[in-house]
Amino acid sequence: MTAPQPSAVARHYRQGDLRRKIDEALDRLYPGHATLTTDDLHGVDEFHTGGHAATRELTDHLELKAGLRVLDVGSGLGGPARHLAQHAGADVTGVDLTEEYVDVARWLTDRVGLTGRARFEQGDVTALPFARASFDRAWMLHVGMNIEDKARLFTEISRVLTGEGLFIVYDVMLLGDPALVRYPLPWASEPEHSFLARPQEYRSLLRKAGFDVVAEHDHRLQAVQSLRNAGGGHHPTSTPHNPASGDTPPAPISVAMGSDASTKISKVLQNIEEDLLAPTELICRLR
Ligand SMILES: C[S@@+](CC[C@H](N)C(=O)[O-])C[C@H]1O[C@@H](n2cnc3c(N)ncnc32)[C@H](O)[C@@H]1O
Repeated sequence: MTAPQPSAVARHYRQGDLRRKIDEALDRLYPGHATLTTDDLHGVDEFHTGGHAATRELTDHLELKAGLRVLDVGSGLGGPARHLAQHAGADVTGVDLTEEYVDVARWLTDRVGLTGRARFEQGDVTALPFARASFDRAWMLHVGMNIEDKARLFTEISRVLTGEGLFIVYDVMLLGDPALVRYPLPWASEPEHSFLARPQEYRSLLRKAGFDVVAEHDHRLQAVQSLRNAGGGHHPTSTPHNPASGDTPPAPISVAMGSDASTKISKVLQNIEEDLLAPTELICRLR
């Protein structure tokens, strides 16, 4: 019997040697550090525009209390999930399609001593492997651009949330003419694998899935700043970071983006600066 072929999404994200690359990047960043904290990982484990500053801002909007059960939809390398477990005392479950990412997420979680408070499962977020009302909160950071069937995605998220469920979407959304959007981008190298939608399409699909969208935030300013920094100088695979120097932490996300990271970063920046795309946050409550 032949093994099932990985989807286009998993093929896009899979590198095969990501664990080794991250290990090497961390060795360069923190030479001689046997123990690491979640804060040490920010340069390599958050794969969304705005990096850790965006994660912190979104966390403030999740209205967390210790012990609440949070689902991280498309959890990637697990940075955002670990932040919630470490700094908000949440009980976090991440689910992601890309096996290698799930493996790296578990390994990094173990390295920072959070195993048991942040768990990661391989799965498709349009068919979540969880029972009804399993979670008090959910968030999804830069995942919808990979998903064509957003109606099913949001219906699934609504199914696994409890009655007072709060759900935050933070995706790169379409503002301008899709034909003008330049590729490769961090989530897709070609337009055929990119499923951008406009904020109004998100709002309409979320409403149909049982959510009220109670707030919308445009993150373009923050994103442009962070992408300029990411494309500009620091690169975690090449530049040692000296925490004692007080300089800014290394650019986020580029290790996970592979060899053409700088092209992807400059294209996404260009698309945002030309008002074609906008990283947008929607805060949603179940009706
Ligand atoms: C740009 S990364 C964002 C990762 C993470 N949310 C973060 O902000 O660091 C997009 C992630 O979505 C995952 N993904 C895309 N489509 C998915 C699907 N149908 N089910 C589960 N995960 C998916 C990818 O594997 C990838 O890890």
